Amino acid sequence: MDTKTATEPGLDPADVFTKAFEYTRVNDLRQAGLFPFFQPLGAQFGNEVDIEGERKLMVCSNDYLGLSQDRRVQQAGIPALEEFGTSCTGSRFLNGTLSLHEELEHDLAEFLHHDSALTFSTGFLGSLSVLSALVGRREVMYFDRENHASLYDGARLSWGELRKFRHGDLDHLEFMLKRDADKNVGKLIVTDGVFSMSGELADLPGIIELARKYGARVLVDDAHATGVMGPGGRGTPEHYGVEDEVDLIIGTFSKAFASVGGFLAGPVDVVDWVKYMARPFMFTAALPPAQVASTKKSLEILATEPEHRERLWKRVAMFREGLSGLGFDTMDSAGPITPVLIGEVDDAIAFWKQIWDRGIFALPTAPPAVPPNECLIRMAVNASHTREEIDRVLSAFADVGRNMGMIS
Ligand SMILES: Cc1ncc(COP(=O)(O)O)c(C=O)c1O
Repeated sequence: MDTKTATEPGLDPADVFTKAFEYTRVNDLRQAGLFPFFQPLGAQFGNEVDIEGERKLMVCSNDYLGLSQDRRVQQAGIPALEEFGTSCTGSRFLNGTLSLHEELEHDLAEFLHHDSALTFSTGFLGSLSVLSALVGRREVMYFDRENHASLYDGARLSWGELRKFRHGDLDHLEFMLKRDADKNVGKLIVTDGVFSMSGELADLPGIIELARKYGARVLVDDAHATGVMGPGGRGTPEHYGVEDEVDLIIGTFSKAFASVGGFLAGPVDVVDWVKYMARPFMFTAALPPAQVASTKKSLEILATEPEHRERLWKRVAMFREGLSGLGFDTMDSAGPITPVLIGEVDDAIAFWKQIWDRGIFALPTAPPAVPPNECLIRMAVNASHTREEIDRVLSAFADVGRNMGMIS
């Protein structure tokens, strides 16, 4: 079949490639110097990154505790690499379960105060695995509308029914649960603990109350909270004091743990069910040894050194107060993410371009990650940002906000 470009006439509507040939949005933005994404990062110097010879101050990484630069986490991977090799070259089911995986799962279950834990090659695969294995035909999932994309894809892989309630609206959730009250089927309420774009927290106590009232189970995706929220870093359940009442937690190692991978924590039988039934767990290669060892070290650090969290929350408060003081809308963010609400996608891109030119690496969000007209600049300061670095970001925002008439 001929390869054509978008400018060539006569594209065949029956060719699956046609939509790609016709798609010009990214190239148009790139040519105008307005494409924010896929920036190739070079070396990292503290919180600065090299991009094609220029240094930018990174303020949107999910490395909340700054552990990606911690020598202990870096060094932990090396002996594992040497002892176990570069890859597991197989599924956990077959040749891919290492003693290291089991040690990490043991430590994690203990840390999260759950009976059992299972790790996945990414958090995304964890969402796919848990929902597809657990929610059967005619069973129902109740989703906060702003749940993470991985949960939506997990729901699509499952055989169950999906009901979406308005973001944070527990009256709407109750309305749905009440409507299903006489259906004698399994029910699972699924919510992000910290919403990944706005940084808002789910109302877990309210959700748990409804779950008990209507006989549903609760699953929390705490990707942005494990390690950082709660005095011990055990996430939003600890933050709210409801650890015993959340049935299942899923999360990621790609944020506070400064590694890669995902996890599930919950009752032994349920975790085992997912382990033996989930295709996105079974038919993929296991987490590589070096990542598992680094994750184990991060877990040890975040479980025993609360000072990283204390520093993080001081920085977050400083940053958020600075932005609100300038007149920006940081929404109801209460987790480690700090958004600045911009509005239309073109304005978010224009805002991004101006802070980028001032040496700040923070990116805009666009639908489907956020609702239309609610585009943001999504940021996260971490435990290792200095006051001077935070002031640099605030000063760039003040400048650009005034240029764009957003603040006075
Ligand atoms: C809420 C939430 N869940 C799951 C994931 C997926 O995590 P991972 O990067 O480990 O695939 C993310 C990552 O962005 C997330 O924000």
